Amino acid sequence: MKWPDELIFIPNSRMAQKTTTARMDRRVCVLTGATSGVGYHAAKRLAEGGARLVLVCRNAEKAARVKAELESEHQTSVRILQADFSHLAEVRKTAAVILEEYPRIDMLINNAGIHNTRRTLTEDGVETVFCVNHLASFLFTRLLLPRILESAPARIIQVNSQGHRFGGLDLNDLNWDKRRYRGLQGYGASKVAQLLTVWELTDRLKGTGVTINAMHPGAVRTNIGMNNGLLYQWYQRYLIWPTLKDPRISGEAIYYLAAAPEMAEVSGRFFNLTIDEKPASHALDRKIGNQVWVISEILIGLAEING
Ligand SMILES: NC(=O)c1ccc[n+]([C@@H]2O[C@H](COP(=O)([O-])OP(=O)(O)OC[C@H]3O[C@@H](n4cnc5c(N)ncnc54)[C@H](OP(=O)(O)O)[C@@H]3O)[C@@H](O)[C@H]2O)c1
Repeated sequence: MKWPDELIFIPNSRMAQKTTTARMDRRVCVLTGATSGVGYHAAKRLAEGGARLVLVCRNAEKAARVKAELESEHQTSVRILQADFSHLAEVRKTAAVILEEYPRIDMLINNAGIHNTRRTLTEDGVETVFCVNHLASFLFTRLLLPRILESAPARIIQVNSQGHRFGGLDLNDLNWDKRRYRGLQGYGASKVAQLLTVWELTDRLKGTGVTINAMHPGAVRTNIGMNNGLLYQWYQRYLIWPTLKDPRISGEAIYYLAAAPEMAEVSGRFFNLTIDEKPASHALDRKIGNQVWVISEILIGLAEING
């Protein structure tokens, strides 16, 4: 059976996944959101593969537990940096510490993400999901990019989502002032914006030895959305979780994209776990992508970065 492009993620999600035995010994890997779910399992797999980890986490206590666990089980060093990515000032501060302490960055994995059922605004005046899932990772990447370029060959992975297929991105209403906020569409908008900037950055990175790819980490059992109301939490735990997979598959897929020698020169792709997949057509619109790039630069205050 030939599946239409929009539904191709269904057969792809049933395909056998690729793995690698390649090692990442001493490679410096910066990973956001490692205290739970996808990021936690990615951190575990990277530590097993020998990577030196810089984990950017919101919750210091949870992060300390992850560090203790990884360092006791693997021959690796783990540096924790605490930051809440709904505050762009904290993104800037964290990037500054990393640039100060690490002469090289071999791998950046932007994983921290949220799903809110209600609209809230950050102190920077941006819708929170758009800020955490897209703007913060955009800013963090741009700030670390000079060091990543110096460290080439290097790789950037954006943990995106099939949720980009929900759409929701309206460049004239990024903050949902004019529309009724819907959680899945707000989430979709943030992931579409991130995907569109991946294609933009791919072009800018051509010939540098730095690659960038986006990935969907599978439909896996994590804490995403558990910050919402009790009804949502009940629905998620009892009706959704039983249908989801073990997040270890996400960690294994991220490791494959980060370490596999055959991925060394692959850039500008969207992977369903490890399967190369065509995203939704609205996430391939380069004209909109260029506009998202420009608006994102304005929202993060690019002048500060260049200055
Ligand atoms: N689970 C899925 O099926 C699925 C599917 C598609 C895509 N994804 C993507 O996978 C990524 C990870 O999500 P997950 O499913 O693993 O959810 P999760 O278990 O809730 O983990 C999210 C991680 O991001 C961190 N985080 C959340 N808000 C943050 C903020 N403001 N600043 C800094 N860190 C923050 C969380 O920290 P705390 O521990 O402090 O909360 C946690 O470490 C997200 O980008 C999500 O969109 C997940």
